[in-house]
Amino acid sequence: MDPQPDLVMITGDHVEKPSDAIYSHFDELIAPLKAPVFLIPGNHDDPEIMWKHFGGTSMFPGKPPCYQYVIDDYDFRILALNSHLDDTELPKFGEQRLCWLEQELAKSDKPTLIAIHHPPMKTGVYFIDMAGEEWYRGIKDVLARNPQVQLIICGHGPHGADRAGWQCTHLHGGQHRSPVDCRARYRPGAGF
Ligand SMILES: [Fe+2]
Repeated sequence: MDPQPDLVMITGDHVEKPSDAIYSHFDELIAPLKAPVFLIPGNHDDPEIMWKHFGGTSMFPGKPPCYQYVIDDYDFRILALNSHLDDTELPKFGEQRLCWLEQELAKSDKPTLIAIHHPPMKTGVYFIDMAGEEWYRGIKDVLARNPQVQLIICGHGPHGADRAGWQCTHLHGGQHRSPVDCRARYRPGAGF
């Protein structure tokens, strides 16, 4: 790839059925990438096994129990979030993960990108929306108070989404779908 990207953020569902052997295989597949690679868990992943496999590397510095982390080596900050619940399609974002998000955003006004597997928004796609809106209500409230968040990137579904100012980019690089980039921009302060 020329020019090389500054980094590669792989937004979850790295494997279908998580095990240390399967993550070793995934590790081999991404080894040729020259840019720094970062990983966040999807519903098909197991953050605990990911941590055992990648926790000692720069790819997955998020520590238990939240498995979330900050990348602050660029002109913008990246907050890598964890919406993993289990191997169903359903997301989770409980009090601990939400507190972490609020505390990290309070540390800096630097332009910020958020990476999260499940789109925290209504997409119009049944298997994504079936979790309802409750799980991301806290995220929505925190972001409304933090206009430095300028873009959210997600995985989970190969569809773009654009709902009344609550816009994001799906960059899907899962193991069973082609990469899709449907660009739309989250506008700080525009509401949801
Ligand atoms: Fe997913």
